[in-house]
Amino acid sequence: MAYVIGVDIGTSGTKTVLFSEDGAVVSSAKYEYPLYTPLNGYAEQDPEDWRTAVITTIREAIDESGVDVNDIKGVGLSGQMHGLVMLDGDNKVLRKSIIWCDQRTAAEADEITKRVGHDKLIEITANPAITGFTAAKILWVRNNEPEIYEKCRHILLPKDYIRFILTGEYATEVSDASGMQLLDIPGRDWSDEVLKLLEIDKALLPKVYESPEITGQITKSVAEFTGLAEGTPVVGGAGDNAAAAVGTGVVEDGKAFTTIGSSGVVFAHTDKISIDKGGRVHTFCCAVPGAWHVMGVTQSAGLSLKWFRDNFCWSEMETAMMMGVDPYYLTDKSVGSVKIGSEGLLFLPYLNGERTPHLDPNARGVFFGLSSMHRKKHMLRAIMEGVAFSMRDCAEVMREMGIDVCDMMACGGGGTSPIWRQMLADLYSCPVKTTLNKEGPALGVALLAAVGTGIYKSVPEACNAVIKAERVQEPIKENIPDYERVYKLYTSLYPIMKESFKELTKI
Ligand code: XUL
Repeated sequence: MAYVIGVDIGTSGTKTVLFSEDGAVVSSAKYEYPLYTPLNGYAEQDPEDWRTAVITTIREAIDESGVDVNDIKGVGLSGQMHGLVMLDGDNKVLRKSIIWCDQRTAAEADEITKRVGHDKLIEITANPAITGFTAAKILWVRNNEPEIYEKCRHILLPKDYIRFILTGEYATEVSDASGMQLLDIPGRDWSDEVLKLLEIDKALLPKVYESPEITGQITKSVAEFTGLAEGTPVVGGAGDNAAAAVGTGVVEDGKAFTTIGSSGVVFAHTDKISIDKGGRVHTFCCAVPGAWHVMGVTQSAGLSLKWFRDNFCWSEMETAMMMGVDPYYLTDKSVGSVKIGSEGLLFLPYLNGERTPHLDPNARGVFFGLSSMHRKKHMLRAIMEGVAFSMRDCAEVMREMGIDVCDMMACGGGGTSPIWRQMLADLYSCPVKTTLNKEGPALGVALLAAVGTGIYKSVPEACNAVIKAERVQEPIKENIPDYERVYKLYTSLYPIMKESFKELTKI
């Protein structure tokens, strides 16, 4: 039997999973790390934490599995997209990574639009200038920390920094590189034109591969630390969403998924490139060579619930620990006893600004309609509904673009909540399925490793062999009009507050 490893370097932690070639989980390990928010709108992580997490979890997964490491045929890397890692000439990390949900770069996003031009930017990078994307972060460091920029010799994305640690290679792949805003998305390689207009030296950037291609091998010293065999191939892998698409079998036209992870994503595969001229959804290269995907993003999905849980649900967390259940099990239970609309309480999940459909770094979270009768359970339900409304916003833009979102899988931590899945089914008016294997991104990149090392011939072949759909949540007809009424009110709130959000930045 052959085995493959998938490593997912997420925002709350890293998860490493060892799979057999048929997709069964043999062993897994998790390692959490902090998110730093030194100022309102800032979000940073320490690449050294990712390094420790990856080395530790690979070691643990291998030790727990008992498999012969020579049977581990390859490693795939997935991770949070857009984060900026800068290395100096000695490969030392120059500053903490400014990660995907950081919103400090409004001025740099404007600078990008001015330098490249709005239309050209959409034509080449398939997206308007976005604060969360890497290019704006690079310019921010150049504008605000010139002494650091001066020393920078290599720019890498989070999972590609880990690739460098594992293999010594400076490499990336098309799906994650798409979120840097420096890639020619139709041409699937760096855009010389954009780089020139932004005055970014191409030599700083890694080599671009297709996602299943082999990008390097495990070095001798990493083999010693992790237990992997020296020379084990590491394939390109994919950004977390493109990886989740492979891990849920969304690799053909007509298929889509919703992730509720830290961020929330509605993702649809497309064999032909399709771009929203308004830039409300992203178009990126996907992990299937020669194909793309369209993706709407809610900045703070699971993150909204986690924020509330960590700050206001200590007793629930303690009880859950004593009962030996997931902390979200109890929140799900209490939310289930509240009616649709949370008895007149709405939540806008814009804790870290918003992308789809508003593209507004100034937007912030709002509880609308708080009354003295509301309890914690109402606030929890309002948060879950607000996130689901925001996912519906993403699906609406795709519908406008003529993209069918009716074969919907659910994944991410939030996708395991039956209540959240039912909200999605009722709001999309279509069945929402889950897969038997819950390892989404880790399974996706493990399958890419299986393709890159010849176990399967193609990504769709690997998915057909491994991915099995499980539960289906059908929409509940009677719920639909109730949700529609609340959703309508929800969509009316942002336009009223848009200017106030801007004003808020001055306080
Ligand atoms: C996608 C995005 C997030 C991050 C973190 O554009 O910003 O999904 O990858 O998960």
